[in-house]
Amino acid sequence: MANEEIPPQHPDEVGAAILPLVGRGAVTLGERIAALHMHIRRNIPQIDRMACALYDPGMDMLKTFVNSTVGGEPLKAYQYKLGDSPSLVSIRDSQQPRVIDDISTSLKSETEHTRWVKSMGYRSSYTVPIFHQGIFEGFLFFDSCQPAAFTPEVVRKLEVYVNLVLLMVAHEITTVQALVGSVRVARDFTGMRDEETGSHLDRMSRFARLIARGLVASHGLTDEFVEHVFLFSPLHDIGKIGIPDAVLRKPGSFTLEERKVMESHVNLGVEMVDRLVKDFNLGAITGIDCLRNLVGGHHEFLDGSGYPHGLRGDRIPLEARIVTVADIFDALTSKRVYKEPWSIDAALEALDKMVAEGKLDADCVAVLRANKDEASRIIERFG
Ligand SMILES: [Fe+2]
Ligand SMILES: [Fe+2]
Repeated sequence: MANEEIPPQHPDEVGAAILPLVGRGAVTLGERIAALHMHIRRNIPQIDRMACALYDPGMDMLKTFVNSTVGGEPLKAYQYKLGDSPSLVSIRDSQQPRVIDDISTSLKSETEHTRWVKSMGYRSSYTVPIFHQGIFEGFLFFDSCQPAAFTPEVVRKLEVYVNLVLLMVAHEITTVQALVGSVRVARDFTGMRDEETGSHLDRMSRFARLIARGLVASHGLTDEFVEHVFLFSPLHDIGKIGIPDAVLRKPGSFTLEERKVMESHVNLGVEMVDRLVKDFNLGAITGIDCLRNLVGGHHEFLDGSGYPHGLRGDRIPLEARIVTVADIFDALTSKRVYKEPWSIDAALEALDKMVAEGKLDADCVAVLRANKDEASRIIERFG
C-alpha cells in the first residue's frame, strides 16, 4: 500500500506543527480541526474527512459538531438518536474504536447519515468513541474514499492525532462545563433558583439549539455556533444573581424603580461575563462572544422597544434573537404560579403576533413552527 512508504512521524514534530493552532485564541475549534486535518493528509493522504459529533444524554442525541471535509458538501446541522444505531451504541459500550473496510457492504441502515456517507463516495471509515473523565461525550469519525484505508499501520499513525483532537475537544468541553457549572452553583445559592428552574434552562437551551440548527443553511452558520448557542443559552439570565431577592422574588407587579433594578440584570450579566473571562482567562474560548451577545441582547426587540440599549434589527446579534424566542416560547408553554401551560399552537400564535408587531425574528419563529414535533418531545422530556 502507498501509505506504507510514508516514514512514521515523530510525535514532537506533530506537536510543533499543531501547538500554535491549539494555543491561538481567536481560532475556532473547527478551524483548528481543519488545520490538523490538512497536516494529517500530508502524511496520510487517504483521509478525506475528519469530524466530531457530540452526544446529548438528555435527549439521547448525537449532533454534528465540527468537521473537515475534502470535496463535496459536509454533513451539517444533523442529529441522530444514538439508540437507533446499534453499531454506534456498541462502539460506545465497548469503548473500542471501529474500523470499517468496506462501507458499501457494512453500512446497511437507511439513515440520512448513511446515505450521505455513500453519496460522498466514502469506502472505509474509522470511528473512535470520545470519553472525558469517564463520561461518554461523542465520536470522532475518519472517512476515506479508498476501501480498507485504515490498516493497522494507518491506525497506529493516527493515534497521536486522535489523542490531540480528543485533547482539543476535551479542553473546550471542560472549560465550558466549568463555566456553566459555576454559574449553576451560584444560581442555586440565590433567589434565582426559584425564578429560573433547572428544567426551564434544559428546555429553553434545547429550543434555542433547535432554532439555531434550523437557521444553519439559510444563515450560513456552523454546527459549532449551534452548539455554543445550546451550551451558553442557560446563562442568559446570569445577571439575576446580582438582583436583590426582595425584587427578584417579589410577587405581583413592580414599581417603576423595582422594574429598573430588575432590568439591570442584563448589564450586570455582561459585566459578569467580562469578569469571568478575565478571572478564568477564558478569552481563548471560542464562542465567548456568543455568550456575551446572548446575555447582553436577550431582552432587545427588533423594533427597538427592548432593553437595555433599544437595539434594532440586525444590530441585535442572531444568538440573542434566537434566545429571546426560545425563552418566551418556554415561558408560554410551561406552567407558572400565575398561569397554566399554553399549548404549542397557542404559544406559536402569540410568537407570530410578536413577529407581526416587529418585535421577534420571523425566521426563528418559523423554525419553531416547522419543528413542532421536536419541540413537543423536548417539553415531554423536560416538562
Ligand atoms: Fe433576562
Ligand atoms: Fe429565561
